[in-house]
Amino acid sequence: MNVLGIETSCDETGVAVYHPQRGLLAHTLYSQAQTHAEYGGVVPELASRDHVKRLIPLIRHTLRAAETDVERIAGIAYTAGPGLIGALLVGASVARSLAWAWNIPSVAVHHMEGHLLAPLLEPEPPPFPFVALLVSGGHTLLVRVEGIGRYETLGESLDDAAGEAFDKTAKMLGLGYPGGPALARLAEKGESGRFEFPRPMTDRPGLDFSFSGLKTHTLTTLANTSGHLQDRADVARAFQDAVVDTLTIKCRRALRACGLKRLVVAGGVSANLLMREKLDKMAREGDFKVYFPRLEFCTDNGAMIAFAGCQRLIHGRMEPPEIRAQPRWPLDELRPP
Ligand code: KG4
Ligand code: ZN
Repeated sequence: MNVLGIETSCDETGVAVYHPQRGLLAHTLYSQAQTHAEYGGVVPELASRDHVKRLIPLIRHTLRAAETDVERIAGIAYTAGPGLIGALLVGASVARSLAWAWNIPSVAVHHMEGHLLAPLLEPEPPPFPFVALLVSGGHTLLVRVEGIGRYETLGESLDDAAGEAFDKTAKMLGLGYPGGPALARLAEKGESGRFEFPRPMTDRPGLDFSFSGLKTHTLTTLANTSGHLQDRADVARAFQDAVVDTLTIKCRRALRACGLKRLVVAGGVSANLLMREKLDKMAREGDFKVYFPRLEFCTDNGAMIAFAGCQRLIHGRMEPPEIRAQPRWPLDELRPP
């Protein structure tokens, strides 16, 4: 069964073909980063229009790359939410129309379930159960995962998501969009320890996060420097250290609370190399195992959607022929296939 996966929830058009036995046959990605860069962030209307332009050619291209044709596509998985409504509607309409025309089933995939399952595409996938830290531009979630569709949210951000905090702080540092990777690059030149940033909400029990205070901290710290490149690099480093430490502390706490020894970290911010290093180190010292997706599957992609959808399609799951797009969709609402 070849499954076509379609991702259009934000500013990346992702398409993939996945086969449950043969694995990932092809995946392609078109990033809109350049389109949005001059505005300093994602412009939803431009994102929708660009998905309209790119999606069909990308599907054609991916089918060719997978050396398959439409007759051998047995199901379609598309991101139905959470995300930007216009962007979601493009993927959902195309996916549902193709499923209708080709007379095959389709499933609506939860974008964060896609991220959560992305490490299962790797050669050494994590066995269930595990704790998952999902860190993207829109969400920061700690989840107890018992199996596919069996998710219990343990903690989440009360304000900015981790990726959002990276993006906003990057803007303050005069860096372009997308901010996360740019800030991480600047932080590499920075000196650790010159500025002391708080580790928000680590001094009290619980697994929720709050990152918005770090923005104010960045502003006031920056205002007390002359703003030269080295100052900004040191501030970037202090900010990144604070976010990574906070996430690491909460992961350790969640593993202890659940009595589990496996941690999955996914979503855009999991591409952060310092964070990967810190968690690897903590895992070695703490006698647990940490799993990440490969770097290209940390950020948005079609492969994770094809994979997540396939897990439901192989159980015969199919949905009524309606176009489903849900900008808000709590992960806990999902059920096993
Ligand atoms: O998962 P993702 O691609 O999209 C959403 O579902 O939101 O995550 C994008 C987020 C952005 O906020 C981006 O700045 C951040 O992930 N990001 C990073 C890095 N790469 C991407 N943040 C920190 N370090 C990185 N290397
Ligand atoms: Zn995402």
